[in-house]
Amino acid sequence: MKPGTIFRKFQARDGRMVTLRAPQWSDLDDMLDFINSLVDEGADILVDTKTTREKEVDWLARKLSSLENERIVAVVAEVDGSFVGLVEVGPKMGRSRHVGVLGISLKDGYRDVGIGTELMREAENQAPRLGIEIIALDVFASNARGRRLYEKMGYRVVGRIPRGILKEGEYIDDIILTKDLKKHNS
Ligand SMILES: CC(C)(COP(=O)(O)OP(=O)(O)OC[C@H]1O[C@@H](n2cnc3c(N)ncnc32)[C@H](O)[C@@H]1OP(=O)(O)O)[C@@H](O)C(=O)NCCC(=O)NCCS
Repeated sequence: MKPGTIFRKFQARDGRMVTLRAPQWSDLDDMLDFINSLVDEGADILVDTKTTREKEVDWLARKLSSLENERIVAVVAEVDGSFVGLVEVGPKMGRSRHVGVLGISLKDGYRDVGIGTELMREAENQAPRLGIEIIALDVFASNARGRRLYEKMGYRVVGRIPRGILKEGEYIDDIILTKDLKKHNS
């Protein structure tokens, strides 16, 4: 997939127009602000330390190379010309290569208007191109919005790692959900 490829546009529930496209180099500074703002707000994600521009350059270079070589699916949501969120699916290795692991996050101020739902839909449409048949993801037990989104999209809880997350001194269960794309499409 070529960086910047546009997939589709839609109107979010608050009326804003959203473009779904592949990531591109010019997302670098927005992505850096984004990950650091998620850390600052204490979002329910695994990353807990802010990153530097240098590290973000390496990270994005690897992402774009994986994207161009069809090793991952990555979809950016853009509003008014700026990056507002990202979903990614990458296959596991070897005999689990038909299982893709999904991660998604949106900037504060762009949540709860259906953008996450459309990002997930787009990722699910594209994942089979990489041979992915099942999507797996983890969510913090405390993340009610994330859980609602995944369950609404047809993901089912298949496991739980009790106390699998340690956030600000408190243990939280790590919930594992999956969706079999073949079953949902047949
Ligand atoms: C989780 C996240 C990706 C969801 O994306 P989103 O665009 O906000 O999701 P949507 O608007 O498409 O759907 C969210 C659903 O949760 C519901 N919801 C919101 N807050 C809720 C709560 N506290 N309890 C239950 N449901 C809730 C919304 O009403 C909506 O359901 P609906 O469409 O039936 O009304 C986004 O909010 C986000 O990035 N959060 C911060 C980072 C994060 O948690 N990332 C995921 C890590 S697993």
